[in-house]
Amino acid sequence: MISYKNLFLLAFIVNTKCCAAIYWLGLAANGSSVGWNQTHHCRLLDGLAPDQLQLCRRNLELMHSIVQAAKLTKSTCQKTLGDMRWNCSSVEKAPRFTPDLAKGTRESAFVFSLAAAVVSHTIARACSSGELPSCSCATAPAEQAGPDFRWGGCGDNLHYGIQMGSAFSDAPMRNSRSGSQAFRLMHLHNNAVGRQALIDAQETKCKCHGVSGSCSVKTCWKGLRNINQIGMDIKSKYLSATRVIHRHVGTRKQLVPKELDVRPVRETELVYLVSSSDYCAPNEKYGSLGTQDRQCNKTSSESGSCNLMCCGRGYNTYNERIVERCQCKYHWCCYVTCKRCERTVKRYVCK
Ligand SMILES: *[C@@H]1O[C@H](CO)[C@@H](O)[C@H](O)[C@H]1NC(C)=O
Ligand SMILES: *[C@@H]1O[C@H](CO)[C@@H](O)[C@H](O)[C@H]1NC(C)=O
Ligand SMILES: *[C@@H]1O[C@H](CO)[C@@H](O)[C@H](O)[C@H]1NC(C)=O
Ligand SMILES: *[C@@H]1O[C@H](CO)[C@@H](O)[C@H](O)[C@H]1NC(C)=O
Repeated sequence: MISYKNLFLLAFIVNTKCCAAIYWLGLAANGSSVGWNQTHHCRLLDGLAPDQLQLCRRNLELMHSIVQAAKLTKSTCQKTLGDMRWNCSSVEKAPRFTPDLAKGTRESAFVFSLAAAVVSHTIARACSSGELPSCSCATAPAEQAGPDFRWGGCGDNLHYGIQMGSAFSDAPMRNSRSGSQAFRLMHLHNNAVGRQALIDAQETKCKCHGVSGSCSVKTCWKGLRNINQIGMDIKSKYLSATRVIHRHVGTRKQLVPKELDVRPVRETELVYLVSSSDYCAPNEKYGSLGTQDRQCNKTSSESGSCNLMCCGRGYNTYNERIVERCQCKYHWCCYVTCKRCERTVKRYVCK
């Protein structure tokens, strides 16, 4: 028989296992304090899920990229969603997550997907910049070079980035102890969506050669776009994410859209299982902080607008004095002098 105490413990375990796969975002805070050159370093900070430990021990050289990816995921999440009611401030709590991220919400779909994209991005870049002994520049693309250029240079090694990034991001979800099958499927799907956004965001970059920059000969390679742009792509997927349920389709259980619309989930859409708060009012149960005192934009009609941000409660106006350097002059040689200018700007904050 299961005692109350065990039941409580069970609930606790299920609850904490929820987001083991993104505990590592906590490495943003103190991951740089470790040398990552001895296998016992992997256990030092409680940032890695059990299934990521082995990968850490076998690929210690990757860990500096993982720590960098944790920082980049946090800052990109906060920058990308900074004008939304849910502004990603709760990733600061990693590895202790509040319900907004600890359940299968739309917000967790965004964070998992972004984190998976950033890990692969960071590793791919580390390869091409020569920081990793285990990889180097990408091999030339399979497609034909054009009449006016040849493949060369040093492309970001997306192949290696995707391979090692998937191994790291997906490892916890391959283990049945890390939450229900539905949640694991949800997170695996969203991780893949994030990596696909990365693959879709490759661009051809070129360098000119030839007599005095005539560009008669060009060398081109495939490079990755800036992570902020990939964050924006994933943001639009977040805004149009699909709620799914886990149910039998034939003999297997799968995630299918909740609305009576019989189609499989698409490889480009983020999916979630649990609906979120509207994040208007504080509510611990949902991990909502509310939007009181958040700054809003009076003239905008989009997400950061006072109308949407303040949920109809209205806003207060105040003046803020800004002091900045201005009328800067360059003096030969070599210093700059500036004046101090003051101006007043109007700020609006939600009631
Ligand atoms: C690990 O790295 C630190 C500094 O990054 C260095 O002082 C130390 O000697 C290294 N240890 C080994 C075993 O390489
Ligand atoms: C590193 O930070 C995490 C999250 O803040 C914390 O749980 C862990 O104890 C810290 N580890 C050390 C060694 O400071
Ligand atoms: C993010 O939202 C929270 C709660 O609404 C707020 O306390 C915090 O200041 C916001 N952060 C930024 C950078 O706007
Ligand atoms: C407010 O929104 C408008 C229109 O979207 C934009 O041009 C302006 O820069 C925003 N103001 C601030 C302070 O962000």
